[in-house]
Amino acid sequence: MNIIVTGGAGFIGSNFIFHMLKEHPDYRIVCLDKLTYAGNLSTLQPVMDNPNFRFVKLDICDREGVYKLFEEEHPDMVVNFAAESHVDRSIENPEIFLNTNIIGTATLMDACRKYGIKRYHQVSTDEVYGDLPLDRPDLFFTEETPIHTSSPYSSSKAGADLLVLAYHRTYGLPVTISRCSNNYGPYHFPEKLIPLMIINCLHDKPLPVYGEGLNVRDWLYVEDHCRAIDLIIHNGRVGEVYNVGGHNEMKNIDIVKLICKALDKPESLITHVTDRKGHDMRYAIDPTKIHNELGWLPETKFADGIKKTIQWYLDNESWWQPIISGEYQNYYEEMYGNR
Ligand code: NAD
Ligand code: TYD
Repeated sequence: MNIIVTGGAGFIGSNFIFHMLKEHPDYRIVCLDKLTYAGNLSTLQPVMDNPNFRFVKLDICDREGVYKLFEEEHPDMVVNFAAESHVDRSIENPEIFLNTNIIGTATLMDACRKYGIKRYHQVSTDEVYGDLPLDRPDLFFTEETPIHTSSPYSSSKAGADLLVLAYHRTYGLPVTISRCSNNYGPYHFPEKLIPLMIINCLHDKPLPVYGEGLNVRDWLYVEDHCRAIDLIIHNGRVGEVYNVGGHNEMKNIDIVKLICKALDKPESLITHVTDRKGHDMRYAIDPTKIHNELGWLPETKFADGIKKTIQWYLDNESWWQPIISGEYQNYYEEMYGNR
């Protein structure tokens, strides 16, 4: 089996590559990544010498480059993680989100049509369903929940999902889609809530909580997401969408307090800042379908996963220090300077 994994130098894609090389040592994995600000080649260092692994620096919107790679590799599957993934950045500049997330997805699928493929898998997000109200804890996102997006990020991901389903119906492309809730774990880029709070805590810097911090996210340890995708690409039904989530809803403020406690830092570091525009209140996944059809269940409890994650950031300063001392400084100043 030869699999092209796009966006494999990012957070979830890199964890997926490690998972696949470990669980399927006879597979060939080709990582295609543009190495944007969010892509980090040092993350993939541990597998660079693996004879079953190849890294290719490429933009998924580069049609010629993508076709050439397909001619070289004849992949059996494509798993598309490549995306602009940060809601706050999409609010500042939507355009790149439309290019990478929509045009890039179409380009990859055109290559799959041209050269043939056993499976194209689109890594999507629960954010395509919009949000749920805080006063209706009985409501969850199912695969039948209508698409109802809030941010340029989620809209671009929803646009891609619709295209993927259209390529299935129109051209018979063998596709699957997974829509997962918020992930956390090793190699999470420091602009996102959990790593940002851990790293700020370690520097005794203010912890910028948007609004009151009452927004709820449904957190899943990244390895559980990787296992879900592995199951879907092998056993999932073509043309289907699978929701992935672990029934682990937490308010932002509670996560930040938990991180303070784990690192023995005072809660007085918490600073409430101007809320995100259009901020989604609650995400909550109903994972019944993937459980019933594929037997998937999350394995890592949040209490264990967050401990492991904090320890990983303590042990791997050499990974995140170069990130936060580069271009990230300017981003941080722009986002949080006058907030
Ligand atoms: P990330 O931002 O950490 O990584 C994205 C990767 O894609 C980077 O390596 C980047 O260099 C690469 N990339 C960006 N534009 C590219 C382009 N034009 N061509 C090639 N490569 C490009 O993102 P992540 O958090 O790992 O998310 C991966 C996927 O999972 C995304 O599609 C995202 O929408 C989805 N997702 C993320 C979460 C989450 O909690 N992080 C939850 C559900 C779904
Ligand atoms: P984030 O990690 O950006 O993921 P998403 O917006 O895709 O769910 O944010 C998670 C939650 O944390 C979201 O409700 C916004 C909030 N948040 C803060 O309060 N402060 C921050 O500095 C960041 C980055 C996020």
